[in-house]
Parts: sequence; structure tokens; C-alpha cells
Amino acid sequence: MAVFASGTGSNFQALVDAFQAGPAQYEGDIVLLVCDKPQAYVVKRAEAAGVPVACFTPKSYLSREQYEEDVLLKLREERIDWIVLAGYMRLVTPVLLSAYGGRMLNIHPSLLPAFPGLNAVKQALDYGVCVTGVTVHLVDEGVDTGQVLAQRVVLVEKNDTEETLAARIHAAEHELYPAAVADVVAGKLSPSRL
Ligand code: GAR
Repeated sequence: MAVFASGTGSNFQALVDAFQAGPAQYEGDIVLLVCDKPQAYVVKRAEAAGVPVACFTPKSYLSREQYEEDVLLKLREERIDWIVLAGYMRLVTPVLLSAYGGRMLNIHPSLLPAFPGLNAVKQALDYGVCVTGVTVHLVDEGVDTGQVLAQRVVLVEKNDTEETLAARIHAAEHELYPAAVADVVAGKLSPSRL
């Protein structure tokens, strides 16, 4: 697997912790971090965990497609089977989708299809919902629109701020994502069955 991330990388860490040293059901290896922000903290996490890093600077390419062609070369070189997006804040183009369609997963901090896109936790609080959560889904060309594979509910508490709610959502993500990825990779949660 290659994990793609752009930021802090707490989900990257949860995935690495599960797949490097977790129980036997976590079959699969995280062999690459792809990062589109060379300064992101996730790069330090990967270095500390001994996971090779491929950093790219999308702005230096003429198009998103050309950027992804380079990413694709690296994925092929490393014989990557699955792409796991973990806070990768960029839309994927048909270049990666045609190579990895059905083998690319994402996690999103809401119960999709509610609150796609940026600032999902704030969107949920602003809307006044009592229940939100996290979703693991297949990636397609839309913004958080692919087929849902797994969800976990998080209750909104009366005095929640964006920070307190985000902390509980992150905790739910860190449990759900490694387990869902392991099930998908092992063929126990097959997208084609849904
Ligand atoms: C996570 O909450 C993830 O669900 C979200 O970015 C955060 C990354 O946190 N992704 C999206 O909003 C995708 N639309 P992390 O860097 O600590 O893993």
C-alpha cells in the first residue's frame, strides 16, 4: 500500500501502527508515503517509522495530470497495489483513477453524503446536527462521492467546539480506518459486493 497525505498525518500514524506492529489481521505493508506538501509533519512521522517518502510539488507541473503521471511512475516502480488517502487534500484525476480505480480508499470526517469537501467538522456544527461521524469510501472523480465502505457514528455534544468534536472524530478515524483498510485488502469488505 501507499498512503497519500498532505498534513499532520495522525491517520497515517494509526495505519502504520496497525500494519507494522498490530494484530495478525492487519495483513499488508505500507511501503510508501506520497506527500504533496514537502513541509508537512506527516513526512517526519514516515521518517521516524522507516517508511520511504516520495514528495512531490504539484505546482511545479503544468497540469494535475502531469503531476499524477509522475506519481504513477513511482507507484509502478514500487509495485503498489492499493492507494490509501489519509488527509490528502487534492482531487484525483483520471490518470490515477484509471490505474487504481476500485483500489483507492479515502477517509472523510463526516457521515457521507453529508458534509463533503473541506471543513466537514465545522459544516456539521454549523448545520446543528446531533450526530456526525466518519466514512471510509472508494475514491472516484468527485469530492468525497465514491461508494461507502464503512462508517462510524460520533455524537455531537451540547457544548462541542470544532476542536472537541474534531478530537473525537479523529479518535474514531484512527480505529475505523486501519480496520476497514485491512478488511478491504483481505477481500473481506469487497467493494464489488456493495
Ligand atoms: C482527517 O480528519 C481526514 O478525515 C480529513 O483530513 C484529516 C487529516 O488528518 N480528510 C478530509 O477531509 C478529506 N476530504 P490527519 O492528517 O491528522 O490524518
